[in-house]
Amino acid sequence: MRYDWSKAALPRHLKDFEAKWADQADPLAFSGVWRFHELIPFAAREHIITVGEGRTILQRADRVAPFVGLGAGRLFLQYEGLNPSGSFKDNGMTAAYSHAHRVGAKRAICASTGNTSASVALYSAVDGRIPAVVLVGSGKIAYGKLAQALDYGVRVLQVEGDFDVCMQRVKEVARELQIYLMNSLNPFRLEGQKTIMYRILEGLGWEAPDWIVVPGGNLGNSSAFGKAFKELQELGLIKRPPRIAVINAAGADTLYRIVNQEKIRWNEGRVDEARIAAFYERMEAENRRAKTLASAIEINRPVNLAKCLRAIEWTDGIVETVTDQEILDSKAQVGAGGFGCEPASAASVAGARKLRAAGVIGAGDRVACVLTGHALKDPNLTVAYHSLADEALRERYGDYGVRAAKHANRPIVVPDDLKKIIEAIQA
Ligand code: F0G
Repeated sequence: MRYDWSKAALPRHLKDFEAKWADQADPLAFSGVWRFHELIPFAAREHIITVGEGRTILQRADRVAPFVGLGAGRLFLQYEGLNPSGSFKDNGMTAAYSHAHRVGAKRAICASTGNTSASVALYSAVDGRIPAVVLVGSGKIAYGKLAQALDYGVRVLQVEGDFDVCMQRVKEVARELQIYLMNSLNPFRLEGQKTIMYRILEGLGWEAPDWIVVPGGNLGNSSAFGKAFKELQELGLIKRPPRIAVINAAGADTLYRIVNQEKIRWNEGRVDEARIAAFYERMEAENRRAKTLASAIEINRPVNLAKCLRAIEWTDGIVETVTDQEILDSKAQVGAGGFGCEPASAASVAGARKLRAAGVIGAGDRVACVLTGHALKDPNLTVAYHSLADEALRERYGDYGVRAAKHANRPIVVPDDLKKIIEAIQA
């Protein structure tokens, strides 16, 4: 989506956006997305549906920095789990719902590994005018996410299949029944998600960090982030973009393979679709299916692949993978440093650590990791990591390569006995 910026009322400096903080009674100024309305100028004020999303925190994470291999003041964590539905999706959903409202949509639909459905359900419930139906795989949607969709009262279809199956069906259903599609195939979603980058810049006094590190699933975020920086650069509002590092789970590594093994590039818009199709054919023939405990990013065919290749080109970006063991250990370290996150989100920190160890990220670099979802989204896995003995953990998650919980904070079982309780506290 390209704007004619000559028609937009743009501020001269990014710092001018800070003035919006003073106007909290205005729902658009209150929203961490619509505060930047001038940079996402597709919707008129009367169409905007906002629930106060995007008021998230950039934490200077000095307690997590040593784990990543960075010094004080070098690592920043962007907690998108602090959104109303507990994930970054609300940034995009407010934009997509506003557009749906503008075009008079009567119903909304999405496929989801859980967070998109929670966000769609929340907007649908609050707004009340565009009822939604969500399709989730029957596999391992995290309980926190499923709980939200059920509680917010949308129609939930558990399809016998994985996310990719749901995504394919949703596209067909949306076409056949003329239902508004809320997945990040929808370009308006990405417009809203650009604002995550504006807030990181704001948190750093409008100075770009050296790196943005983000988990990669359907690749909406990485695509949106690249576009955000490209536009800011074209508008003369930043000098150079940060480099984007997209982190795949090792068990769901389509982007990694496409970029680092197949060497497929954006190529000025002429992406080699035939080679991508051949890649997917091989994937089917070898019966390779995405498999990771980071269920949010357990995706075979990312819908924004081409746009992500564009973002990589624009930002001199790179792609890395991390194992589920690295994800879970990093998640525990993030948790111990503050607000915590869900497993997929911790891929960013695990990736930053790996890239730092390899010297790709330099010791003096400033790094912002995007933590995409809230710690409470997937409590089962967190409790298992901290409380199971390593042997039991291996039994349950050995298939995913998980061997031991390096950073477990084990609960201590004590009898109802004052002396024993005091002993346990003082041990
Ligand atoms: N992190 C979390 C917590 C997610 O829920 C998702 C995607 C991603 C990262 C990947 O982001 O698609 O922009 O690369 N979740 C989608 C869903 C697929 O259905 O909730 P992406």
